[in-house]
Amino acid sequence: MILTIFLTLLTLVVSYPVDNPNDPYADLIQPYTPSGGNGTDNSTVPDYRPLSDFDYQSLLVGLNQEYIELDLFNYGLAKFSAEDFEDAGLTSADRDLIHFMAIQEEGHAQLISNMLGESSPTRCNYTYPFETVPEFVSFTQQLTRYGESGVYGFLSHLDSRAAASLLTESITTEARQQFAFRQFQGLSAMPYDFIVGISQSFQWTLLAPYITSCPARNPKIEFENFPALKILNGPDALSNSTGARPAISTVNNTLTKPGRRVEFAWEEPGLPVGWKPVKDAVNINYTNAGEFNGSTTKHFNGTSILDSDYDDDEAEKLYRTTSLAKGPPRFAAWLSQLNTTYTELHLTSNNTGWALQPNATVFPNTNNTIVNGTAFVALVDEKVPITAFNVSKLNEHVVAGPAVYQAG
Ligand SMILES: *[C@@H]1O[C@H](CO)[C@@H](O)[C@H](O)[C@H]1NC(C)=O
Ligand SMILES: *[C@@H]1O[C@H](CO)[C@@H](O)[C@H](O)[C@H]1NC(C)=O
Ligand SMILES: *[C@@H]1O[C@H](CO)[C@@H](O)[C@H](O)[C@H]1NC(C)=O
Ligand SMILES: *[C@@H]1O[C@H](CO)[C@@H](O)[C@H](O)[C@H]1NC(C)=O
Ligand SMILES: *[C@@H]1O[C@H](CO)[C@@H](O)[C@H](O)[C@H]1NC(C)=O
Ligand SMILES: *[C@@H]1O[C@H](CO)[C@@H](O)[C@H](O)[C@H]1NC(C)=O
Ligand SMILES: *[C@@H]1O[C@H](CO)[C@@H](O)[C@H](O)[C@H]1NC(C)=O
Ligand SMILES: *[C@@H]1O[C@H](CO)[C@@H](O)[C@H](O)[C@H]1NC(C)=O
Ligand SMILES: *[C@@H]1O[C@H](CO)[C@@H](O)[C@H](O)[C@H]1NC(C)=O
Ligand SMILES: *[C@@H]1O[C@H](CO)[C@@H](O)[C@H](O)[C@H]1NC(C)=O
Ligand SMILES: *[C@@H]1O[C@H](CO)[C@@H](O)[C@H](O)[C@H]1NC(C)=O
Ligand SMILES: *[C@@H]1O[C@H](CO)[C@@H](O)[C@H](O)[C@H]1NC(C)=O
Repeated sequence: MILTIFLTLLTLVVSYPVDNPNDPYADLIQPYTPSGGNGTDNSTVPDYRPLSDFDYQSLLVGLNQEYIELDLFNYGLAKFSAEDFEDAGLTSADRDLIHFMAIQEEGHAQLISNMLGESSPTRCNYTYPFETVPEFVSFTQQLTRYGESGVYGFLSHLDSRAAASLLTESITTEARQQFAFRQFQGLSAMPYDFIVGISQSFQWTLLAPYITSCPARNPKIEFENFPALKILNGPDALSNSTGARPAISTVNNTLTKPGRRVEFAWEEPGLPVGWKPVKDAVNINYTNAGEFNGSTTKHFNGTSILDSDYDDDEAEKLYRTTSLAKGPPRFAAWLSQLNTTYTELHLTSNNTGWALQPNATVFPNTNNTIVNGTAFVALVDEKVPITAFNVSKLNEHVVAGPAVYQAG
């Protein structure tokens, strides 16, 4: 025993310093390390960069998400007065927390920018669909949900596991942001066992409508923008409507039930969406809360900005919605917890219909219903079996959506 330790130490000493110029640890033996694993051998040098187009584009979606969060948190603090926040039950300590979240986003944006290197995009201008503090909090709660779920969807598919490990450490912070915004809404903090992952195209579809203009040098996102899906009778989770006040946890704010009839309207493919490239855009400095050069709020119908005085030239937008589905939508696909569950879609016209909120539990004999919290729903032409590691197989069947469904 003592001899083994001695030999181990001897080997360490003898083999150090090593001649591998890249990794000083490369020739160290690794005691107490079972065989197997990835990146655990003595020749792997961590490389915190995208290793494929898939990695690059996934990180690009991630960075665009970090930028909107950075802008959004600061924008909300600048748009609303301390009194507005207090009327919604949010104190100066709560505002400081939101400010701190903006600072966290600077760190996240820096991290991903470093991984993307020179071609990394810079910040954009945004248009937000809120006019009150409860609406701001609700929008932010939903936006951080698809930020989080979008990253979970691709994390384990990245070629660069080194990049994935850094991203894990930022997305867990984002999860806490989402959690805090649920509490600011007085919603049950976490009414589920699992957080669902969604594909990059799902995340990008949800994010793109709010990005108004970006510097022309920003790389184009290659993932799909699906036609917009709107929930016509979405549950009203605004704290001014539910009567819920900010709380660590609440028990009386159940917004939906299994079997609820949910009504939809959706767009045809081909509409412009996302940002307009701007040549010689000034670099925006958001280092202080209160700085929000360029972003604004307008009315939306789900995706399109509806203000009559809104003069954006749609033709200049860089993206168009598309669908690869083979026919009209036949099912609502509900993505929540570990499962994608389908319920039949009943058409009421070519672009409207309804479906029931699923009545199932994740595992049998539990009370934990599949659709709860902030979930996702898309309309599809076919009921394809999807599990957590292949959610992107749903993409080619999407007719419209996803939309965020505020189940609880
Ligand atoms: C590095 O790992 C290889 C394969 O596991 C092993 O054969 C080799 O002895 C190790 N090198 C050192 C210095 O431990
Ligand atoms: C680790 O995983 C990556 C990506 O899947 C793969 O390319 C690489 O060969 C794996 N490395 C080892 C040592 O198994
Ligand atoms: C809550 O606020 C929203 C938007 O500001 C408004 O549409 C809604 O009617 C309000 N609800 C109540 C119960 O006042
Ligand atoms: C939930 O409970 C709070 C405090 O007990 C109360 O003020 C609020 O009205 C309740 N909300 C609903 C929807 O019952
Ligand atoms: C969501 O979870 C909460 C807390 O467990 C529960 O009270 C509520 O009934 C659930 N809602 C649905 C739609 O299952
Ligand atoms: C949900 O399923 C359970 C168990 O099968 C059943 O008892 C219940 O009536 C169903 N609820 C609805 C709204 O369909
Ligand atoms: C939103 O408005 C745009 C432009 O008027 C329209 O093309 C689209 O169908 C509308 N979407 C929904 C879901 O109503
Ligand atoms: C950004 O704004 C802050 C506060 O106004 C200022 O201190 C900082 O120097 C500015 N940074 C740049 C790069 O302009
Ligand atoms: C954002 O808006 C500001 C103020 O209108 C403008 O100076 C800037 O160029 C815009 N940036 C982009 C990328 O559109
Ligand atoms: C509905 O779809 C059918 C089949 O694609 C088409 O023939 C019809 O014109 C559409 N109706 C409307 C009102 O768009
Ligand atoms: C939900 O997903 C889990 C894990 O893949 C699976 O075991 C379970 O059967 C699924 N439940 C339903 C209702 O599909
Ligand atoms: C499910 O809920 C019922 C009614 O509240 C309760 O009696 C039962 O113990 C719960 N089952 C589990 C597995 O928690």
